[in-house]
Amino acid sequence: MTVAVTPNLARSNVVIVAGTDTSVGKTWAACALGQALRTAGRRVVAVKVVETGCGDAVGATEDGALLARATGQPAPLQALIRLREPLTPALAAEREGTSLDFDEILLRLEELASGADLLLVEGSGGLLAPLSWEWNLVDLAQALEARAVVVGSDRAGTVSHALLTLSALELGGIPVAAVILTPTGQPDGSTGSNAAAISRLSGQGNVVTVPTRAEPDGAAALLSELAFSLVQR
Ligand SMILES: Nc1ncnc2c1ncn2[C@@H]1O[C@H](COP(=O)(O)OP(=O)(O)OP(=O)(O)O)[C@@H](O)[C@H]1O
Ligand SMILES: [Mg+2]
Repeated sequence: MTVAVTPNLARSNVVIVAGTDTSVGKTWAACALGQALRTAGRRVVAVKVVETGCGDAVGATEDGALLARATGQPAPLQALIRLREPLTPALAAEREGTSLDFDEILLRLEELASGADLLLVEGSGGLLAPLSWEWNLVDLAQALEARAVVVGSDRAGTVSHALLTLSALELGGIPVAAVILTPTGQPDGSTGSNAAAISRLSGQGNVVTVPTRAEPDGAAALLSELAFSLVQR
């Protein structure tokens, strides 16, 4: 699929939550944003497009289930596509002898967005992780005219990962609302300085480092201002 540069004009009510990598806090951030809007009485839906490493029954700690709990949405209560192998989606699908249908997923996301003030769409792994061998989250975001929130971890390596992610989004014409750096379990010499470096090098003004907040209400309070800015357009 070709990457078309689209002008940053009118955007939809869809926001992708894109990672610099896997396990960097995408679900945490999407849950916090979703919970903040839910508490404020806004209609928010949050979905994981593809979740891998899934068993037969939907586990309570699956991303899809966590997102649904945070927003209180009646549906979906699980990722749109659940795959067994804990691999990048294109490979996990291939191992199951299946592949993901772009148009089908796009239609599903458009339907969900049409009934909500905001639709949050969590990616799988890093931004360019292949959802199929033909397309990825950027392609979906383009089709949805989405904006993006980028999530990374406040540790060494994140500056380059974040800049690469922002470059790919810019190339795809996807506006970025914010970059969120989550705490790392193993702080290093860069921890605490990465947000300023990313902001300085990218020109992106809204780069924030968030503290540890395991409780949903605490997490939501941290991101409430950003959450409201995503719907007040
Ligand atoms: N600010 C925070 N406070 C407390 N815990 C956090 C915070 N940010 C992230 N975490 C925790 O870090 C872990 C990884 O985060 P999360 O599951 O959101 O990553 P992810 O990018 O969604 O991963 P995946 O690629 O598997 O979807 C989780 O246990 C999450 O609760
Ligand atoms: Mg996740």
